[in-house]
Amino acid sequence: AAWEKQVRHSSTPRRVNGFSVLVTGAAGFIGSHCSLALKKRGDGVLGLDNFNDYYDPSLKRARQNLLSKHQIFIVEGDLNDGPLLTKLFDVVPFTHVLHLAAQAGVRYAMQNPQSYVKSNIAGFVNLLEVAKAVNPQPAIVWASSSSVYGLNTENPFSERDRTDRPASLYAATKKAGEEIAHTYNHIYGLSLTGLRFFTVYGPWGRPDMAYFFFTKDILQGKPIDIYRTQDQKAVARDFTYIDDVVKGCLGALDTAEKSTGSGGKKKGPAQLRVYNLGNTSPVPVGRLVSILEGLLNTKAKKHVVTLPRNGDVPYTHANVTLAYKDFGYKPTTDLSSGLRKFVKWYVNYFGIESKHSKETQHFDESS
Ligand code: NAD
Ligand code: UGA
Repeated sequence: AAWEKQVRHSSTPRRVNGFSVLVTGAAGFIGSHCSLALKKRGDGVLGLDNFNDYYDPSLKRARQNLLSKHQIFIVEGDLNDGPLLTKLFDVVPFTHVLHLAAQAGVRYAMQNPQSYVKSNIAGFVNLLEVAKAVNPQPAIVWASSSSVYGLNTENPFSERDRTDRPASLYAATKKAGEEIAHTYNHIYGLSLTGLRFFTVYGPWGRPDMAYFFFTKDILQGKPIDIYRTQDQKAVARDFTYIDDVVKGCLGALDTAEKSTGSGGKKKGPAQLRVYNLGNTSPVPVGRLVSILEGLLNTKAKKHVVTLPRNGDVPYTHANVTLAYKDFGYKPTTDLSSGLRKFVKWYVNYFGIESKHSKETQHFDESS
């Protein structure tokens, strides 16, 4: 097939001992950034994405265009398509899989629960079934989530803390993923590294996330809801800038041990690890909004509402000691600097002139 040629080409490493990485969810927010970073340092990259419409697919197409300018090819297909995955591994001897494809978002799980089961559980199992049978097996680094800490509020969260109180079906499927990983490591010797990301934000981000639609709504003069907990405490997140997360993903790939199994047979103990990748500095949502107001030069219409039982957790805060020890992970971007870069991208991408924000403000005052 025509795509086979492109696939081989785009996934051939340029650096000595470079990796050949299958990036699932490559048209997504984190996947597109990681694909570019891998390619830039000389690794071979091939993407897989189903371009679903959970959020505007035109943003995924725009990321795909950006990647194609860097000779990164994305195969359009679903994690649940076993023959397609097998074919990809037949064509390319991947050394690593960076598995980021998933149904993300915590609140949407109340509207479409089955999409979480399909992508995050069935799709993950399908990928592992294919990977376990490949010889030699690729090392797999996959996206878990800070949401596995559920209702915990003792801070900061360490990898050994309890994860038995998921607040959303999303969190439950991410927790299930960690347990599924355990079984594939135990039986087949697959090398598996889970990364618990903490509310990642930045340029090319996800329109379903608060920082993104707050920006949109503030610019359009629409009201926004700021959640507070049932006992009227501020809801806070350990917002983590995309470039820090990308460094963490590459570091995890670099230190992922080779699998010990091959062709579905276990030979010895392989790596099974889980790491927090956060910013270590939780910020209340109200503070996020005031930073945005400053950057957009526009007052938000704020509604403070008590956190509904919608899957959101009250608090997240990462301890990243383990990721620092094993691969030198150290977040360096504070929320103001990161949001500044996001807003710059947003204004540029959506073509809003900077005077627009002032006009909106003027309109609000006079109406
Ligand atoms: P995203 O939605 O932008 O990216 C996911 C991509 O996967 C999308 O492009 C989507 O089209 C694709 N996809 C979904 N289901 C698929 C399937 N069945 N087959 C093929 N492709 C499929 O999300 P993101 O923010 O880049 O998140 C990447 C990963 O990190 C996800 O696993 C997510 O759960 C996890 N995560 C993200 C955050 C965050 O704050 N962004 C935090 C914690 C965990
Ligand atoms: C985010 C991602 O959406 C999940 O995919 C990911 O798994 C999760 O991070 C994670 O870290 O594991 P969340 O932290 O809930 O989930 O991110 P947002 O949906 O952007 O919400 C950010 C904050 O804004 C939360 O505290 C939320 O309660 C708050 N919020 C959200 C509001 O105050 N008002 C709203 O209208 C929406």
